[in-house]
Amino acid sequence: MEEIIKIEFNGEEIEVKKDATLLSIARERNIYIPTLCHNDALEPYGVCRMCLVEIEDKGRMRIVTSCNYPAKEGLKVKTDTEKVVSTRNVVVELLLARAPENKEINELAESFGVKGGRLENVNDDCILCGMCVRTCDEVVGVNAIGFAQRGIDRITATPFVEASETCIGCGSCVYVCPTGYIKMTDKDGKRYIENWKVELELQSCENCGAYIAPKRQLDYIRNIADLPNDFYNLCFDCR
Ligand code: FES
Repeated sequence: MEEIIKIEFNGEEIEVKKDATLLSIARERNIYIPTLCHNDALEPYGVCRMCLVEIEDKGRMRIVTSCNYPAKEGLKVKTDTEKVVSTRNVVVELLLARAPENKEINELAESFGVKGGRLENVNDDCILCGMCVRTCDEVVGVNAIGFAQRGIDRITATPFVEASETCIGCGSCVYVCPTGYIKMTDKDGKRYIENWKVELELQSCENCGAYIAPKRQLDYIRNIADLPNDFYNLCFDCR
């Protein structure tokens, strides 16, 4: 049975499930905490540092990432202290220096009133949040991409940075990427995902001719799911 504990959240004493993440508790109470590397479908990763909160645990104050910090009895949590705001602003400034031309990161910085210019720019739209890598592995189950290289050279890439032979072209990585770094185009019966050097033939609907999905993706689904043939041959509208 789940253990219920008491914590203090923004000054209010509340009862929560033991080990629930502080982010999930905030969301249940409609308290906004920004995130970039969190998705409920994925294991918490704690890498973007956007979801910072301040905690007091046995008299000790600390800043922690709320997406992977578990609730425990007596914990005091504050989501909007001066320290949270100033530390998060530094995180946003670092992101802005990494991706100074990126629309999403610029909008994020603007929403927090953070300006760039103090740090050296890197000019890389990939903020290494790992959303694409984790989604491909944990949700799609294909594991076509990962991290390569180390330190400031770290990138998201296919094995040996070569054209992926396992990517099924489902586009989940494109969907979850918070900065629009991963580029996917459908053109002339093919799907292209630039970042993974992928070019896949699209299956067209037997009835209306509209493109359904990459053939490789449909083959992948055929192997793991027992779906009627219509699923593979007809588009959503014609089924
Ligand atoms: S959302 Fe918590 S570190 Fe990214």
